[in-house]
Amino acid sequence: MDEARSTLGVEVIRALDRPLEEAQPLPATVYTEEAFARLENERLFPKLWLPVGGLHEVPHPGDGFPMSLAGRPVLVLRDDRGAVRAFYNACRHRGTRLIGKPCRRRSNIRCPYHAWTYGLDGRLLSAPHFDGFGQMSLSGRNKEEFGLVEIRCETWHQWIFVNLDGKAAPLSSYLGSFADHYRDYDFSLLRHGKRLSFEVEANWKLLVENYVEALHIPTVHPKYNDYGPFQDYATVADGHCLGTVIEVGYPDDWKSPLSTFPGLPERWRLGTRNLLLFPYFTMVAAPDHVLTSLLIVRSPDSIVWQKDFYFIGEAASDAQFDAAREAVISYYREIIEQDVSLLTAWQAGLAAKEAGPGLFSPAFEQATWRFQQLVANYIG
Ligand code: FES
Ligand SMILES: [Fe+2]
Repeated sequence: MDEARSTLGVEVIRALDRPLEEAQPLPATVYTEEAFARLENERLFPKLWLPVGGLHEVPHPGDGFPMSLAGRPVLVLRDDRGAVRAFYNACRHRGTRLIGKPCRRRSNIRCPYHAWTYGLDGRLLSAPHFDGFGQMSLSGRNKEEFGLVEIRCETWHQWIFVNLDGKAAPLSSYLGSFADHYRDYDFSLLRHGKRLSFEVEANWKLLVENYVEALHIPTVHPKYNDYGPFQDYATVADGHCLGTVIEVGYPDDWKSPLSTFPGLPERWRLGTRNLLLFPYFTMVAAPDHVLTSLLIVRSPDSIVWQKDFYFIGEAASDAQFDAAREAVISYYREIIEQDVSLLTAWQAGLAAKEAGPGLFSPAFEQATWRFQQLVANYIG
């Protein structure tokens, strides 16, 4: 019996795979135990396209930022030719982390330990004094073999994704219907407005499961439910694309001076599409803004939830729109804080593993069920 089966168990997978009405959710231990988090780092995350950020974070050659993915340090940077690339953020000499914070217009990457220096394309340029004072022939080894280890990296509009094992389907096919849902929105007009980060004491899967259902809206976000009643949300569960959409999700008098997407069908004037690209890239698209998020998973019960607000053209930065942008941001901040407090309570309750595993609402938790099946299937 392999490690996944001994962690999840055949019975657990069989119970999850019953028809939704009878299916049994995954046990609490998948949200609390280190052993399962390690499995995710080895057998789930490396197979997927993981979001790492936006192109606005690396506008110039030599701009880069570090990231933690599936427990590994990763470096995303723009090279001399303008291509965005990803590497393991670890020196090829003895493995020291190379970059600890975002950098701007670097001409190379220099290890803080013994100064091995790499080009922006990852090639090893120098290994000072390796073979004695002033000598660096790498004891006859081929320098080409000691460049930074590159990670597959692709972009979709202005969002950057990486695939650690290099074997996932191309990002365009992995996106599938997720991209289709947003095809009426001209994302080339978007400019980054603001990033908010939230520390959440909860497992990353709880955040996702909460995101993809609307059933909690009347209790957790009662004000929001007045604008977009939870029963009006349609559930989406299609491949890697999970979540909800609603055609009228904002107050009728939502009159923002912010620019709106040109050519958006009238019926989406007050609508919003709140979708997840498995495992944890989320996107809320409204007529005058887009909100994306990604997670930094620190441990089974600790994540950083990074939220990025985008607006259309000058509305993203022009001072005359400061108040309007802030209105959008505070609208969401309230919702996010409500979710964060709920997630903390949920994680705390799961410590009573004897109380689970519960059941799914067949009317509202179809996407949650699909999410858990994806996790179980990828882990194998
Ligand atoms: S570990 Fe990087 S130069 Fe030695
Ligand atoms: Fe919520």
